[in-house]
Parts: sequence; structure tokens; C-alpha cells
Amino acid sequence: MTKVYLDNNATTAIDPRVANVMLDQFLDGPNNASSQHAFGRRSRARLDGAIEAIGSYLGTQLDQPDGARLIITSGGTESNYQALTGLTDHGTLVLSRIEHPSVLATAKWLEQQGRVIRWLEVDQNGLVRVDQLETLISSDGHGTALVSLMAANNETGVIQPISQAAEICQKKGIPLHVDATQTVGKLPLNLSDSGISALTFTAHKFHGPAGVGGLWLAPNIKVEPVFHGGEQQLETRPGTEPVALVIGMAEALKLAVNEMASTTEHCETLRDRLENGLIERHSDLVVQGNVHDRLPGTSAISFLETDRQSMLMALDMVGIACSSGSACSSGSSPPSHVLTAMKRPESEIESTLRFGVSKFSTIEEIDKAIDSISNVYNRLRNKTCVDN
Ligand SMILES: Cc1ncc(COP(=O)(O)O)c(C=O)c1O
Repeated sequence: MTKVYLDNNATTAIDPRVANVMLDQFLDGPNNASSQHAFGRRSRARLDGAIEAIGSYLGTQLDQPDGARLIITSGGTESNYQALTGLTDHGTLVLSRIEHPSVLATAKWLEQQGRVIRWLEVDQNGLVRVDQLETLISSDGHGTALVSLMAANNETGVIQPISQAAEICQKKGIPLHVDATQTVGKLPLNLSDSGISALTFTAHKFHGPAGVGGLWLAPNIKVEPVFHGGEQQLETRPGTEPVALVIGMAEALKLAVNEMASTTEHCETLRDRLENGLIERHSDLVVQGNVHDRLPGTSAISFLETDRQSMLMALDMVGIACSSGSACSSGSSPPSHVLTAMKRPESEIESTLRFGVSKFSTIEEIDKAIDSISNVYNRLRNKTCVDN
């Protein structure tokens, strides 16, 4: 059975060109960039070169004294944790209700330590109500210390109003952290004049390796370390730097940026083909967030009168891989906090699946997916009706 991978918001397949570059590095070690000998100096040069290259693809210079910095982390979760816990140690945190669990769980933990959290709502189509931000900050008796917003939502793909948020934060003199895990490598970014203070990203979302990511910091923005140890990365992130992974991340980002125009067109075409193909057969499907700008390859579709977990498993049996939200270790998945915040009807929250295409997806795969999804939907929908 041919398998079709449509879960590219969760992770992407590594680009073979990236894997080859990394293999060369793994085989041409040892690579400890902190060692003083010739091997170490060679690794340092490779690491610094890769970090500067990443900076240039993000539109920021990383080689200036007291300028912007890039902390290499293990990925989006760690970068988000470091930003939320390390950029400020007092004052209110302002977040949207649709942030990734890595942000929400950290905020919940900080709340238990006594920090105040204030929330931005979203509209019914998944766009953060940035119009509430200025009032939220002005009316905050505790003093807002940090605003954290995602650049695009990982469930609906809805692109969020980051430049408006940055403008308000700059006016109010409050740092803005952006979780750009879903947009780096997919949407153009020019950090140098963005008004953003800190930005999270991770390589495995743009066909790079898992286990490496970054927390970019604007000039003069300081962050506390998450843990303590050696002096690497100016003591803000101790531990031996994973040189080959960083080189892989730089290569993946280079390819993503250079090929962005064609990838975007390809993903949009396939995403629209999938949505239109399904809607032609089932006119009552609901595509979440489609009135707003969305990530090129992301589609969250509600299959009314079905249960998303049963749909997901039935699709897996016929070779279609998609997602039903953030599955927990028991294999079940709690109702989506994103769709709940969007105040979607229960029937949609219960039945929404996420599909994500990538540059490696093909028209043939999408056509197979349309047939399979449609058949499974007909089968499960009829079953639910009979059972009820
Ligand atoms: C918006 C967002 N933030 C953070 C993360 C966490 O990234 P990582 O898997 O690299 O820890 C993800 C991954 O699903 C994400 O989609």
C-alpha cells in the first residue's frame, strides 16, 4: 500500500541534500567547537559560519558586537521555554489562547509560581484579536513584562498579525517574543526591522534535522539560561554545540528560503486541490480559518458527524497520515484548545483533522488522499448515523 504523508505541520521529511551535508560533517569530526586544538578551531569556524548563514536567511546580522544573537537550542519547545522563563522574571505575560502547548504549559507553570497571565482572544476563524493588545497592556495593574504570540497557528495555519503586535509592543516599550516555529522557512522574514525582541524556530519543520532549533534575540535583549554548566553560548545555553545539526539547519534554511516561491505555489496548489476535491464530494465540510491568510500547505477540515480519532485511525489503515490535534500518550486526544478558543460548535471540534502538505507531496498523492478520505468519511458518517 502506498502511504501518503500529510502531517507536515508535525514534522517534515529531511531533504536528502541536508542529510548529505550533515553526513559529511558527522564523518569529518570530531566536532567540538569549544576545544582549543586545531580540530576545535575548525569546528568553531564551521559552527560560526553556519550561524551567520542562518542569520542572513532570517534577515539579521549576527556578527556585530552587542548586536543580535542566536542561541542554538534543541528545538521549538526549549526556545519557547527559555523565552518565557528567561526574558523577564516579574510582571504580566500576555499570550493568545491558541499558542502551542509548549508555550501554554510553560505559562501555566509560571502562573503556579505567582506570575500573572493575561489572554488575547481569537475570532471565530482563528485570528488573534490583536486589537485588544493595547488596552490589555494599558489596563494591566501589574505591568506587562512580555508579550508572546505565534506567527502562524499549527492547527489551522492561520497567519497571525505579528507586525501589528510588534508596533504596539514597541510603542509601549514591551518585548515581543514570537513563536515562529510554523513560519520560518515557509514565509519571508526580515528580522532586522521587525520590532520583534525574540523569535523561536526549529529545523525539523523545514526539512532539516529534529533536535536543533534557535532562539534569536534582538540587540540588547538578554535571556537567562534554562540550565547551568559550561561556558558555551555565553553561558546562556551550556553544553557541547551540535555542529553537524546546526550545519544541517543552515542548509535546510538556505534551501527553504531559496526555493520559497516555488514551494509556496506547489503547496497552495495541492492544499487547494485537496480542499476543493473534498468539498466537491461533501459540500458540508468546514475548512477552518480559510477566510484568513493561511500557511501555504495547512488545512484543518471538520468532517461533521464523525469522531476525529476514529477518522484518523481509519485513514491510517488506508495509508493516509494526518493529525487530530495534540495526541497524548494514551493515544486519545483532548478537544483542540485552538478550536475551543475559536468558539467553534462542538460538532466541528469533535470532527476536525489537520492535513499538511510539503514540497515533497505530489498531485497523485493528493488525488489518492481525496478518494481515501471521501470513502472513509462516507463509511464512518453512515456508521455514526446508524449507531445513533
Ligand atoms: C507552533 C509550534 N511551536 C512549538 C513547537 C515545538 O517545536 P519542537 O517540536 O521543535 O520542540 C511546535 C511543534 O509542533 C509548533 O508547531
